[in-house]
Amino acid sequence: MKSKIRIDVERVKGNVSPMIFGQFIEHMGRAIYGGVYEEGNPLSDKDGFRLDVIEKIKELSPPVLRWPGGNFASGYHWMDGIGPKENRPKKLELAWQTIESNRFGTDEFIELCRRIKSEPYICANLGWGSPEEATNWLEYCNADTDTYFANLRRENGADKPFDVKYWGLGNEIYGSWQHGHCEPEEYAHKAAEAAKMMKRTEYMGASVPIKFIVCGANNFDWDRRVLEYFYKKNYAELVDFISLHRYDSGPDYYRVLLGTIDFEHNIVACKGLIEELKKHYRTNKLPKIAFDEWNVWYKTTGERRIAKKYFRQGEDLLDELYCLRDALYVGSALNIFIRHCDIVEMANMAQLVNVIAPIFATPKESYRQPIFFPLKYYRAMHKELSLDINVISEQIAFDEKLLEEQVRKYEHNVPLHWKDSNIELRDSLKPYLGRSLSVIDASATRSSDGKSIVVSIVNRDEDSNREVEIDLLDFAPRSGKRVVITGDEPMGTSIVPSGSSISDNDYNERACFVRESMMDKVSSRFTVELPAHSILLMELR
Ligand code: AHR
Repeated sequence: MKSKIRIDVERVKGNVSPMIFGQFIEHMGRAIYGGVYEEGNPLSDKDGFRLDVIEKIKELSPPVLRWPGGNFASGYHWMDGIGPKENRPKKLELAWQTIESNRFGTDEFIELCRRIKSEPYICANLGWGSPEEATNWLEYCNADTDTYFANLRRENGADKPFDVKYWGLGNEIYGSWQHGHCEPEEYAHKAAEAAKMMKRTEYMGASVPIKFIVCGANNFDWDRRVLEYFYKKNYAELVDFISLHRYDSGPDYYRVLLGTIDFEHNIVACKGLIEELKKHYRTNKLPKIAFDEWNVWYKTTGERRIAKKYFRQGEDLLDELYCLRDALYVGSALNIFIRHCDIVEMANMAQLVNVIAPIFATPKESYRQPIFFPLKYYRAMHKELSLDINVISEQIAFDEKLLEEQVRKYEHNVPLHWKDSNIELRDSLKPYLGRSLSVIDASATRSSDGKSIVVSIVNRDEDSNREVEIDLLDFAPRSGKRVVITGDEPMGTSIVPSGSSISDNDYNERACFVRESMMDKVSSRFTVELPAHSILLMELR
């Protein structure tokens, strides 16, 4: 049976925010030190920026970059990272149990954002930090006043404010692993106090209007209690975004892709909650979702190292190697964001370089991982308006038979930390029994002038090519450009056993192929064939 995608160019859902193609970079492992920033490396410039890595980031062109964490943010004191480098304190960093030199700080982050043309998004420390510290950070970054923190910025060489628009009110404070973990009301109180004074700082001379991202948990109870706190206090105006995080993992092919079903439900559920509260508390403000951490995270969990003595900076931690299956997950996630453009206004893949990242850098080279390519092409090709398309797809039933097949095929692939904890692949897959996965996942956008349509289609079938009939109704394109992202082996880049260190030769960029071509025949109805485990993007005009 053929799958079908019907596209009516008139059925516009809304604007796609370019911010859904955002990124996140944290002080951990080799993301900053040994990733974007490596002083003394011949591939770096005199300021320490790895030029080869920056070039690859520019290819992804992320419109927004979240920093400095993540878990790191909740213990980070921003004043440690400004001023002459030789005076910056070296500190024990407790989130990832490493040493932080502070040689990369706010000024370096802003410089990075300027080089890659991204909006900076700073996640303030509302774990161990105070509302006062967050407010001072805003003054340092954005104030044009003749006052202490703004003058500190000038002393450090920046006369003009940094214009940081996006401010995160803490990271994952709901989690027991976090510095300053607490109950939702306690968190909400602190976040609201910070936001209130940050708003006053904005009024008193900050350069740009700021937007707040309140820390959500992707959990109905936490999210409701945090939002209710803001609404009951009449602080609805302070909530511009609520953040959601999601990671999927698994050593087999299907479990990660089945995770995309819940991924979409998370957004739908959060939207329902927001709308319900909005109605109940009679506020006009509709917060948006910032999905500010998401990705596949699988082999190198880091717990093994953390459990041991691990007190060096720039060691590998979550140096994930990705495969094509993960690229299909990324394509599906981006389709989800496009489909839910009415509520998802920002999303930040976690993370950008080395740490669970599309770009992988060794001291001698840098590579694009398979997850790089959907990010690059969706960002480059998709248009301004999301279309409400109709996808009729075959389903893959995740039944006993498929489960056993996955166990047979991928038992060898379970990570070391699973073995240590006696986690069985079979048991880990059982909760997914009875689910069915659409073989075809798609989204479509249209340019605002109505001249072109972009369709991105993921074929999640592990083994078979699939045909899809595209019906564009009254839209009759004259030409088409096609990009296919696929590879011979959907699980094929996992060359290095987990836990071992990665050498220059271990990673093969060609584990994933990208083919760009013009399409010979396009009309308002045609059939395309997608290779097994592939992504097809088409621009039709
Ligand atoms: O991205 C890695 C970590 O995942 C982040 O530090 C944290 O916010 C999440 O738990």
